[in-house]
Amino acid sequence: MVSVEEIARAAAVLRAGGVVAFPTETVYGLGADASNAAAIGKIYALKGRPSTHPVIVHLARSAQLADWARAIPPLARKLAECFWPGPLTLILRRAGHVLDAVTGGQDTVAIRVPAHPVAQALLQAFGGGVAAPSANRFGRVSATSAAHVRAEFGAALDLLLDGGECAVGIESTIVDVSGPQPVLLRPGGIGVLELEAVLGVGLASGSAASPRAPGTLKAHYAPSTPLMLVDSDMVPELVRSLDRQDKKLAVLSFSIMRPLLPGLVWLAAPADPAGYAHGLYANLRELDAAGCDIIIVERPPECAQWLAVLDRLTRAAAGSSAADIP
Ligand code: TXA
Ligand code: MG
Repeated sequence: MVSVEEIARAAAVLRAGGVVAFPTETVYGLGADASNAAAIGKIYALKGRPSTHPVIVHLARSAQLADWARAIPPLARKLAECFWPGPLTLILRRAGHVLDAVTGGQDTVAIRVPAHPVAQALLQAFGGGVAAPSANRFGRVSATSAAHVRAEFGAALDLLLDGGECAVGIESTIVDVSGPQPVLLRPGGIGVLELEAVLGVGLASGSAASPRAPGTLKAHYAPSTPLMLVDSDMVPELVRSLDRQDKKLAVLSFSIMRPLLPGLVWLAAPADPAGYAHGLYANLRELDAAGCDIIIVERPPECAQWLAVLDRLTRAAAGSSAADIP
């Protein structure tokens, strides 16, 4: 695990304008001092991310919220009280000093207080806000272990804190509370039903009119191997048909029995949404590394509990070129 000395070194790297990869309970982040535009520029360069895309500011405590946001509505305070520290990001009106490099020039800022003990230790030692996107190259599969981060960036990082596997496994839920009505911009680690129970109102879903959330690009989270999302009852037939065409296949299932075909790469994921989410990115990386012609993913059910997983899988499929496969 991470030592006190490593945390002190990481905080010093941030103060010096460097980049530190660190674990959160959702996915690993690529962190820089949120008050240093040049440091944030390094993250964009590493990720290959367009500079107009905003990043989340990570804070140690909810009490720091007023340093970064203005006009904080009671509803935002309620969400912060119930779900922070945790996998929730709030979009609020930004305080005057918040850099355009953080917000992509928008009048809002994304804030999150993560719960992971290593993230907490780093944020407390650093004291300020840490701007951090997910630690993956732009558009690719997010990282849920230090090995994943190394595979993405190698030696290009100033420092990588190894906090083991991320417990949640998919990114935070993003709720825009900057307008008259709370809007869900990205489903994630906190379920919609849990949020609505606290809010006492329904969450609107993001539209073209809401502020840009590039994690919500249609194509995102994509492996390099073409990926297809297929209904459960169609999977066995499709697998047999593609196998007959000598395609090398990788399959991610959660309810189907593995057909007796040699050479098939098959991963059985847990059938509950939380367990499935925990292993999702590691599974996609493993299947991608198997050197297959196509990844077939059994489509999870369309319901609130699976919303975040289904969102990531749909984007992974949209970002791949599986349409080219007959
Ligand atoms: O779980 C997470 O949220 C991880 C960990 C590292 O905290 N971070 C993460 O960051 O997923 P990233 O940059 O990969 O995704 C953040 C999303 C992007 O889609 C971005 O567009 C959106 O948050 N975002 C950031 N600031 C925003 C703003 N002011 N308005 C609307 N969306 C914003
Ligand atoms: Mg991301």
